[in-house]
Amino acid sequence: MTACIVGWSHGKFGKLDGETSESLIVKAASEAIAHAGIEPKDVDVIYVGNMNGGFVRQEFHSSLPLQTHPDLRFKPSTRVENACATGSAAIHMGLNTLAAGKARFVLVVGVEKMTELNSAQAGEVLIKASYVAEEANIEAGFAGIFGKITSAYFQRYGDKSDALAKIAVKAHRNGAKNPFAHFQKEFAYDFCRTPSDKNPFVAGPLKRTDCSPVTDGAAAVILTDVGTALGMKQAIAFRAAEHVNDFLPMSKRDIIKFEGPQLAWQRALKSAHLDLLDLSFVESHDCFTSAELIEYEAMGLTAPGEGERAIHEGWVERDGKLPVNVSGGLKAKGHPVGATGVSMHVMTAMQLAGTAPEGLQLPKAKLGGVFNMGGAAVANYVSILEPLR
Ligand code: COA
Repeated sequence: MTACIVGWSHGKFGKLDGETSESLIVKAASEAIAHAGIEPKDVDVIYVGNMNGGFVRQEFHSSLPLQTHPDLRFKPSTRVENACATGSAAIHMGLNTLAAGKARFVLVVGVEKMTELNSAQAGEVLIKASYVAEEANIEAGFAGIFGKITSAYFQRYGDKSDALAKIAVKAHRNGAKNPFAHFQKEFAYDFCRTPSDKNPFVAGPLKRTDCSPVTDGAAAVILTDVGTALGMKQAIAFRAAEHVNDFLPMSKRDIIKFEGPQLAWQRALKSAHLDLLDLSFVESHDCFTSAELIEYEAMGLTAPGEGERAIHEGWVERDGKLPVNVSGGLKAKGHPVGATGVSMHVMTAMQLAGTAPEGLQLPKAKLGGVFNMGGAAVANYVSILEPLR
């Protein structure tokens, strides 16, 4: 263990009219600093996770956390980007800074303000996280990329629409208990399973209920070294933190194998000296329900092609042997891209500290896994977290 999360904050995700990326950053940063019980002057280094300035006119974000307090003026701050894994990338930069002895306290803020654009316009921005030379002309933005992946998976292993609908139902059932979630209502299986006016096909076999929404939101953490963390009121330690990038073009990979995610999981579990089922729960990157399905296989929960067993047999439900996305995941909580990886770490830290909102808290949360993915299994981050004491 080299570093800990000692403070966090998580705003409400959703269509936040009246908020700007600046207001979201300032709120998240000030709440995380207060939660850690430190002063703004104690922060040595800042990272801002923000994926794409194309969603808003304000592209240059690094100095916006300085608006939080005059004592943050002149602190080094950098914007970090790694597609949908931007939030975890920013956290990793913080971990590296601590490991290099360059800071005692690091503030990491993840933010995205997406809803100033409509879904089609947001799709145009999101598709820039594909291999543009070969993939950007696909219809339906980034959903088109996962529509293609889902079709390829169905061709190899059969139609898994039942499993995808059940994953959506699980996400919304969990999200209904999460006060931070974009959608806080349950969706019936028949609604998710059956195409309709309210649940049309978006790309390939993916319907609207298979997609994460276009969402605004921010979350923040304070990181410090273990020695300092021992004296703080709460401390959630990184037992492992691994990052694996794969080739960007889907044409250079067997795209339904998710080899980058698999390697990141294998490395993280090995360095933590754990088996997957030692984990109490996992927050996984369900940007689309089919992504979560394939991630069951990549994390080693099932053999390739058998991911549906994990949902059909209830293993990934709240009371299953490995609950996945108890928070509601990206599907229900929302996916404000730059904030997502930070949000996943905050949700996990809350569970491990025993301070998750009522109804969301798991009874025995001792070890939590986080998998955050940028692009189509391109930038892959796995963290394993546990309480420091
Ligand atoms: N899941 C469930 N319901 C959704 C939804 C989603 N993902 N997105 C929107 N809705 C609901 C809205 O709440 C609204 O409900 P209401 O009529 O009861 O008010 C209704 O659907 C229409 O909303 P709208 O925003 O007009 O839908 P849309 O068809 O324009 O957008 C998607 C839906 C799925 C296309 C859009 O959310 C999307 O593009 N998602 C993918 C984002 C993405 O690619 N992220 C990066 C992943 S790597």
